Amino acid sequence: VGYVGSTGGDDAVDVVLDGLSTLEYRGYDSAGLAVPTPSMAVHKAAGELSALEETVPRDDLAGESVGIGHTRWSTHGAPTDANAHPHSDEAERVAVVHNGIIENYQRLRDDLADAGVAFQSETDTEVVPHLIRRYLDRGADPETAFRSAIDQLEGSYAIAAVFDGSETVYAARQDSPLVVGLGETGTYLASDVPAFVDHTDRVCYLEDGDFVRLTADGAVVTDGEGETVDRPIETVAWDPEDAEKSGYDHYMLKEIHEQPSSLRQCLRGRIDELEGTVNLEELSDIDHDGPVQFVACGTSYHAAMFGAERLRAGCVSAQAFLASEYASDRVPVDGDTLVVGVTQSGETADTLRALREAARAGATTLAVTNTVASSAARECDHALYIRAGPEIGVAATKTFASQQLALAMLAFELGDDPTRAELEALRDVPGQVQTVLETTDAKAVAEAYVDADAYFSVGRGYHYPVALEGALKMKEITYRHAEGFAAGELKHGPLALVTENTPVFAIVTGDGETARKTIGNVKQIASRDAPIVVVTDGKSRVTRYADHVLEIPATDDLGGSVLANVQLQLVAYWIAHGLERSIDKPRHLAKSVTVE
Ligand code: G6P
Repeated sequence: VGYVGSTGGDDAVDVVLDGLSTLEYRGYDSAGLAVPTPSMAVHKAAGELSALEETVPRDDLAGESVGIGHTRWSTHGAPTDANAHPHSDEAERVAVVHNGIIENYQRLRDDLADAGVAFQSETDTEVVPHLIRRYLDRGADPETAFRSAIDQLEGSYAIAAVFDGSETVYAARQDSPLVVGLGETGTYLASDVPAFVDHTDRVCYLEDGDFVRLTADGAVVTDGEGETVDRPIETVAWDPEDAEKSGYDHYMLKEIHEQPSSLRQCLRGRIDELEGTVNLEELSDIDHDGPVQFVACGTSYHAAMFGAERLRAGCVSAQAFLASEYASDRVPVDGDTLVVGVTQSGETADTLRALREAARAGATTLAVTNTVASSAARECDHALYIRAGPEIGVAATKTFASQQLALAMLAFELGDDPTRAELEALRDVPGQVQTVLETTDAKAVAEAYVDADAYFSVGRGYHYPVALEGALKMKEITYRHAEGFAAGELKHGPLALVTENTPVFAIVTGDGETARKTIGNVKQIASRDAPIVVVTDGKSRVTRYADHVLEIPATDDLGGSVLANVQLQLVAYWIAHGLERSIDKPRHLAKSVTVE
C-alpha cells in the first residue's frame, strides 16, 4: 500500500494501516510501514497487524502525508521483524516494499556484499534498497536511481519506494498486480483495490513494465524508456466485501482462477531451460540416493501419491503413506531414507507426528509446504516451498496444483534429469491452465448432473490420484457421495454401483498404452448405461464413448493430470453452487487439523 496526501488529506499512517487491514484476507505473517517525512521512519513487526500498530509511534508521525506499507507472506526467510518489509539501505535514505520473487537476487546480493554492504535480512527484497542507494551515491536523482535498480531485477515484482525527506512514491510492476487510486485529497497505490476503495473509486491498473510516480496531485505512468504511457482511468463499483473475492462468489472459485499465477510463482527461477535442469535452491545441499517415503493427509496425500509415482518414473524407489497410518504401517525406515511430509499448512498433527517418528528412526526429513516457518518447515531437515500464496477456501485447490508441480520438480532433482520435452511441458502448464479456465464446459456438465445419485471418477497412472482428488473435492463441498477409483479396479467390485444416474468422470490423455487401457474400462462402464464425462486432450478415440467432454490442451500425462484436475475442481464447484452449499466453509471440516 502507498499513499501521498495533499494538504488537508488524511494521515499517511492511518491510510496505510487501514489499507493493510483490508488486505488481511490475503493472509500474512508480518507487516511494516515507512513514513519518509520529515525524515525516514521505518517500523515493522512479525505477527498480526496489531503487533505493528503497537509499534508505530502515531503521535510522532501525526500529520505526515506520505507512506508505504506491506504485509508479508514469506517466500524467502522466516517471518521475523528483520525480514518484514519495508527494507532500507544502511543510512535509511530509501525504503522499499515488494511483492513477488527476485530470481537473480543471490547474484546481486553477492555483488553488493563484496562491495561492503551488510545485509540485515534473509529476503530477496533487501537487494533493492541497496542497489538504489548505490545509484544515489553515484549522483543519480531518486527517480533515476529507482529505475536503474529495477532494470537490474529478473523475476516478478510489484515494488514501491520512498526516499528520505521526499513527498513522492515511486513504483514499478512486473508479473505482480499493482493498481493506482486517484482521490480528491491524495493518490493511492496498492496490490489490490480494497486497500483504498473507501477513499476513491477512480482507479488505474498498471501493466507489466510500467513505472509510476505518485504525488499528491496524481500519478504519472511511464514505460521502461521513460516515455509517458496512458493507462485508462476506470471507475470501480465494488463494495469492499466483494472486492476481497475480486468479484467471485467464493474464495474457492477465486483460488481456482489464481492457479495460472500461483503455478508460475511455483516454477519461477527453478527451471533452467538452457541447461535443461531443475534447480531447487532450498535443496542444494540434499544429496540423497536412497528410498523416498511420502507422508500426508487429505488432498496433500493425493499430491504425495502423484509425487511418488513421478519419482518412480525417474528410477527412485518411492511410496506414499497416509500420515495417520504411518506408525501402524510399521514401514522400515533407516538413515538412508528420505521422508517427505507434504502439507499445505505445515501444521497437520498427523503429518507432524509421522515426520517425528521418521526423524527418530534416523531418516532425513523434508517438508513440502506452503507455509514458511510452519512447524513442519522448522522441524524438518529441509523445506521446499510451493509458493501458492494464502489459500482461504477450506477445500484445497491451488495448493494441490502447486504441490503437483513442486513434487514433479523434486523428482527431477532427486531422480533422472528431465528431458527437454518434460521441461517444456512443465513450463507450459500455467498457460494451459489459463486456457482451461477460459474454455471450460464444467458449468454445463455440473448443471446436467446436479441431481445424480453419486459421482465416480477413474484414471490410471498420474490420473489415478487426480481421480481420488476429484472425488474428494466433490464430497467436501457438495456433501454427495463420490468415489475415485483406479480405472482398472472398477470391474473388481465398484462396477456394481454404476447406474444410469451415476455419472463417471474418466481422465484420458495421450493415445498410448495407459489411454488404451482406460478406454477399455470406459467401454465397460458405458455398456452399463452410466453417463460418461471424459476429461481429455482429444488425442485418443475416447470421446466417441462420451456423453460430455471436458477438453484440456495437449501435453504429457504429468501436465495433463494438473489440467484435468482443474476441470474436476470446477465441476465440483458448480454442483455445490447449484446445491447452495457453504462452499468456502463446508460443514464439519477445518482448513488445518491440529489434532490426531
Ligand atoms: C484438512 C483439510 C484438507 C487438507 C488436509 C491436509 O483435513 O480439510 O483440505 O487436505 O487437512 O492439510 P495440509 O495442510 O497438511 O496439507
